[in-house]
Amino acid sequence: RQARVTKICCLGAGYVGGPTCAVIAYKCPHITVTIVDLNQARIDAWNSDDLPIYEPGLDEVVKAVRGKNLFFSTDVDTAIKEADLIFVSVNTPTKKSGVGKGFAADLGYVESATRHIAKVAVSDKIVVEKSTVPCRTAQSMRKILDSNGKPGARFDILSNPEFLAEGTAIRDLFAPDRVLIGSLDTANGRSAAASLADVYGNWVPRKQVITMNLWSSELSKLAANALLAQRISSINALSAICEATGADVDEVSYAVGLDSRIGPKFLKASVGFGGSCFQKDILNLVYLSESLHLPDVAEYWRQVVEMNESQKRRFTQHIISSLFNTLTGKRLAVLGFAFKKDTGDTRESAAITLIKYFRQEQAKIAIYDPKVEESQIWYDLAEPGVVDDVTALKKQVTITSSAYEAAEGADAVVICTEWDEFRDTKLDYEKIYATMNKPAFIFDGRLILNQKKLEKIGFKVECIGRSRAVQ
Ligand code: UDX
Ligand code: UDX
Ligand code: ADP
Repeated sequence: RQARVTKICCLGAGYVGGPTCAVIAYKCPHITVTIVDLNQARIDAWNSDDLPIYEPGLDEVVKAVRGKNLFFSTDVDTAIKEADLIFVSVNTPTKKSGVGKGFAADLGYVESATRHIAKVAVSDKIVVEKSTVPCRTAQSMRKILDSNGKPGARFDILSNPEFLAEGTAIRDLFAPDRVLIGSLDTANGRSAAASLADVYGNWVPRKQVITMNLWSSELSKLAANALLAQRISSINALSAICEATGADVDEVSYAVGLDSRIGPKFLKASVGFGGSCFQKDILNLVYLSESLHLPDVAEYWRQVVEMNESQKRRFTQHIISSLFNTLTGKRLAVLGFAFKKDTGDTRESAAITLIKYFRQEQAKIAIYDPKVEESQIWYDLAEPGVVDDVTALKKQVTITSSAYEAAEGADAVVICTEWDEFRDTKLDYEKIYATMNKPAFIFDGRLILNQKKLEKIGFKVECIGRSRAVQ
């Protein structure tokens, strides 16, 4: 029978490792969970009242178990030594240079974390790949562990991809659609998989815990994200057709979503998808396809990302032409900077690209987001390595503490993130209208506003995927 897991260590206290292992601790009082990170500031934040990531419900979970069976620490060695099972959830950014630059995942952090485990471990460990990684990474991890491990310490590698979405992480972790565990098809591999399945078995119904071979599991994660992103690019491609005709993309989504073979989710047209996963994982898939000499497959997936870029360009072009073909000196109020609502995360957020375009058009930009830190916005907008960029940036960009303040004196409001507080049932758009330059435009990049209601106030409203108002 497989070993019973009583001590878990998680390498990496980020968006994935933090919430996932906090929930494991919460659901499994008999398991001690230690989340470690090399970044002292991050660990200090996890140990404070002000957690380093915003996620609805996370505070309650962490506060209920922190100091009982959930610990945050920078003492990586002790945590590795004591654990039966180790989650590796370190960052896997896209490579910025060298072979596969811009596409392939940089596995440097995974490799160094793996080498660290091999160096420190003196007893058997189940090592679980949690970060999204290219196919066959588990095999590389196994080679590193097998050739560097101490005698007497055996390593079993599992793949256990995380499917949580930001903003709903706790809900997703409490009731996942499925938990995927990939292992080698050997007695040891199957036994390790069963040990991890037992951990999830504390709260996830058994039939939803699926075991399969390592590579299927690794590929399933990339495939899930690629298919989700593809749906958004598909509806966004249709939104362009809607704008050019008289069709309404929300009506089209609704109609096609009623087909049970298609389903209603992930069909909301938008300014483009963002987040740390979709683009990265598709580019990973593109790179993998190219390495496997499958250029047609690579091209197919690459187009999903290109359509996403094109959507952002198209939206900008729409704004420019509506504002009488120039943005020079005009004030644009950008509402929302996070890549989606209910998160403070800005990775690959469409707002970043849009603001870059607005700046090139010499617009003045006022940004408001309810959750993103001001320092993060400056960081995201500054060109890396350009010394004076921040000074130039601050001449063109201001960050405000409310939507009203952002809209004061603006020529247009641009909705980039679908925060509930931007809805016309929450925000006083009459008040906003009164302070704006006329004609006052609203560009709804998220389809959250009641167009007719706002037009009654006097706004010129332009929505993604709806034919353009007759000027
Ligand atoms: C299709 C639509 O399903 C239907 O709603 C529309 O009215 C007409 O077009 P049809 O062409 O009759 O219907 O068959 P469908 O079951 O959709 O299959 C189309 C093709 O896709 C077939 O060659 C089928 O073998 C193939 N297919 C379908 C797959 O290869 N894989 C699948 O998972 C499903
Ligand atoms: C995604 C996957 O959903 C999750 O399973 C995986 O583990 C990590 O990647 P996440 O990036 O957190 O999660 O958010 P998600 O809800 O998938 O949204 C991604 C982007 O797509 C956001 O920018 C969102 O606004 C956009 N989106 C989503 C749309 O534009 N339209 C939609 O219909 C859905
Ligand atoms: P994700 O969104 O995948 O969780 P993050 O970047 O939010 O990614 O978090 C990854 C974390 O992993 C970072 O806080 C980073 O400091 C940490 N990390 C990277 N390498 C190691 C390592 N060898 N040991 C422990 N933590 C690591």
